[in-house]
Amino acid sequence: MASLEKDAPAQAAAVAPLALDFCGLQFASPIVLLSGCVGFGEEYTRIEGFSNRDAGAVVLKGTTGSARLGNPPHRVYETPAGMLNAIGLQNPGVDHVVRVILPQLDFTETRFIANVSGSTIEEYVEVTRRFDASPIDAVEVNMLSPNQTDIRENARRCIEAGTDALAVINTVMGMAIDVEERRPVIGNVQGGLSGPAIKPIALLKVHQVYEVAGPHRIPIIGQGGITTAQDALEFIIAGATAVGVGTALFYDPLVCRRINEGIATYLAAHGLANVTELVGTLRTAKDLADCALSG
Ligand SMILES: Cc1cc2nc3c(=O)[nH]c(=O)nc-3n(C[C@H](O)[C@H](O)[C@H](O)COP(=O)(O)O)c2cc1C
Repeated sequence: MASLEKDAPAQAAAVAPLALDFCGLQFASPIVLLSGCVGFGEEYTRIEGFSNRDAGAVVLKGTTGSARLGNPPHRVYETPAGMLNAIGLQNPGVDHVVRVILPQLDFTETRFIANVSGSTIEEYVEVTRRFDASPIDAVEVNMLSPNQTDIRENARRCIEAGTDALAVINTVMGMAIDVEERRPVIGNVQGGLSGPAIKPIALLKVHQVYEVAGPHRIPIIGQGGITTAQDALEFIIAGATAVGVGTALFYDPLVCRRINEGIATYLAAHGLANVTELVGTLRTAKDLADCALSG
């Protein structure tokens, strides 16, 4: 769940078909690099060919009031078409992030979004306040779980509370067992499943949240298993204004370029001048029936 609160400095000239305004922030691409998958924005910059400029925004690792060491190992485990993780919010604490890490970020590259976590409401408030008073472009609050029956209800509550945007979904809880040891593989017993395995779930949740958020013009960052341009296009058609890429980076750190190119090719082939024209254009059975009646 995201609450995007701050105006950003003007960004370098963006490629028109992919550029968009997201809550007043200028994104050069609809791609957002996801929290926990890119460290504090530096993780992939050592890889030749990788650039944060290929993403409209980069979300920093979840940050808490005090430093956290995280969970015991194993913390990650590859599964068919995805991975389980239970990092346990390892981070150096908000003070270090604001004082030491933020000044090292190059805000001409992309928009940087903080990701806030905590054990109490007071901790969430304190960490959010620290980021609000910092140069960060926006603040995402980690709270809208897909592990619930009807995600629309939580989306409604977030909108009532004044959120500027929604990020949908986070990981889906799961586990793996070592049969020889008869123990859970993940030190924390359970972990969050991400990657292509969760894409159909994420897509449905984005579709459902768009039903609630669309009428209020609250933009969605759709995420969960996006690996290709086709995946990104599905999320955009379902109602996402921006699309998150996380686990796919572990397989291919240069995946954003391919996704950007694929989206641009699709837009040109369908006579669309800008990616925002595609947002929420899903044709449901009802739309098609209305079309047949009127046609
Ligand atoms: C290793 C790892 C660490 C993550 N850490 C965070 C985090 O600190 N805060 C958060 O809100 N989401 C976190 N996530 C969830 C991702 O931001 C994203 O919502 C999720 O992985 C689904 O997208 P994906 O399938 O493209 O990875 C993490 C995911 C992974 C794989």
